[in-house]
Amino acid sequence: MIPQDFIQQVLDRTDIVAVVERYVPLKKAGANYQARCPFHNEKTPSFSVSPTKQFYHCFGCGAHGTAITFLMEHAGYGFVEAVKELAGQVGLQVPDDGNRQAPEEESRREQLYARMEVAARHYRQALKGADNAVAYLKKRGLSGETAARFALGYADDAWQPLAPAFAAYDDPLLVEAGLVIDNEGRPYDRFRDRVMFPIRNERGRVIAFGGRVLGQGEPKYLNSPETPLFHKGRELYGLHEHRRAIQEADRVLVVEGYMDVVMLDQHGIGNAVATLGTAVTPDQVARLLRLANEVIFAFDGDAAGRKAAWRALENSLPQARDGKLIGFLFLPDAEDPDSFVRAQGADAFRALCESAMPLSDFLFGELAAQTELHSEEGKVRLVTLARPYLDKLTQAPLLARALRQRLAGVTGLAERRPSAAPMARVGAPTGHQPVPSGRGAARASPWRILLQALLHDPGRAARLADFPEVAGADVEALQAVVSVAREHPEMTARDLVEHFRGRPEQSSLEAAAAALLVWDEDYDVEADFQGALARVRAQAGRASVKGLVGRKPSELSDEEKVRLLASLRARKPD
Ligand code: UTP
Ligand code: MN
Repeated sequence: MIPQDFIQQVLDRTDIVAVVERYVPLKKAGANYQARCPFHNEKTPSFSVSPTKQFYHCFGCGAHGTAITFLMEHAGYGFVEAVKELAGQVGLQVPDDGNRQAPEEESRREQLYARMEVAARHYRQALKGADNAVAYLKKRGLSGETAARFALGYADDAWQPLAPAFAAYDDPLLVEAGLVIDNEGRPYDRFRDRVMFPIRNERGRVIAFGGRVLGQGEPKYLNSPETPLFHKGRELYGLHEHRRAIQEADRVLVVEGYMDVVMLDQHGIGNAVATLGTAVTPDQVARLLRLANEVIFAFDGDAAGRKAAWRALENSLPQARDGKLIGFLFLPDAEDPDSFVRAQGADAFRALCESAMPLSDFLFGELAAQTELHSEEGKVRLVTLARPYLDKLTQAPLLARALRQRLAGVTGLAERRPSAAPMARVGAPTGHQPVPSGRGAARASPWRILLQALLHDPGRAARLADFPEVAGADVEALQAVVSVAREHPEMTARDLVEHFRGRPEQSSLEAAAAALLVWDEDYDVEADFQGALARVRAQAGRASVKGLVGRKPSELSDEEKVRLLASLRARKPD
């Protein structure tokens, strides 16, 4: 324990403005200093630092504290570390009073950090002379600049690659740092003949490594064990490097692998982070949501990816906040962000991000796939399945309400819950739940609507043919589904969704399937279908008439002349 009066002494001598300024550019505004708040994302500055009161306060998110809390909350210091850091800056020595454990503990951590830093430098240096490792990275399309930006390194193909880096190889701290394995007195390096990815904490200090074999081998990635510095479920690869870009984009992309982060960065997508071989934890989600309003998870389109996505969803629910967006995107089969961005480029990847499925659609889509909504039992089952998930949305009351309404609309089973705000009671008859009309679909493209109607009754495939050549995920999905459904008239909507699992059409299908859920029984799907069909035909007509206008009459067939004349006569503004 550090004595309270010492902390007071440190704070008395510290200028919070100088402390904050090292991380956040401040502007003088009257008696105070202002900035865009580093604790939440905002366009106009509501973060204020008071030199007279020596605290900071954000009028937007309520963040508030002293120089010590700032170092802890913003820069990732522990309490003792923060006090020590400030004390050092003003020339005070943390007293060694009574309980000596804390400072000793702290200096032990410092020593571990120092070991990690030395190791990182050594690995980085070693990469320069390692032709095989350089060739491997080049083969993977990695530029030297990118490798340098992420401080990649190489652990030599030897038993003790780190031996030359340290004065004493038998230093027990090397074992504690996870760099060396003791092996009953015959120590050797944990990482050998691997490309090394240093993992930094938010402050930028190296706390762990991930090491990849060159080419084939098991395990593909070897990671540092849990150490006093490193807790897998807390850290995120790339967070230090990408913090700025994440705040600027107001969106963070969560991918599965080191290489995904690095390769996306090389292609100019600088707002990705990766979990460290584990499912994303609620703690990680919370940290990310503090940095940006949108968190998008990217997963492989295969079964393992779906499963991982579902874990991410489960761990995100308790952290979801109203006004924030959590999305899921699925890559085409056998692709990961690394391979995708290399093959298709950054714009294609960005487009994929734009098509990410909101958490609510993913949740309902997956649950609906496990239920048959044609029976009362099925509807009850859906409610039963959904309830525990909705209950987890403790910090997003509006979203929870919207989802409950959607569920009630689908099943006709309104949950009777005690009203949280009796004052808000209105004159509507009790027990009446507004039924989502499905008119949300009014904003959907006609292609999406056709896809929905097709899933609603795959028999409609027979009435869909000869699409115009239009690009777009929904059109392509529609074409693919139509051809499968025509060939297999026995397939139900669920079969179709299952059939396209792990394929590029999957996202469109899932989104369309999720929309089905908001349609109650009397919803006029057929009207939607015909409306969309008319829109699509009109669009196609316009496109082909445009083609006709430019041609000589002599080149037109009779049928084309008729069409052109009819369209000219009927021309209305779009
Ligand atoms: P993947 O197996 O999907 O590999 O692991 P990747 O990222 O595509 O790797 P490359 O492209 O073949 O190099 C994803 C993440 O899971 C963890 C690592 O964090 C990896 O980045 N992982 C994977 C391990 O920790 N150990 C392993 O053996 C494999
Ligand atoms: Mn990969």
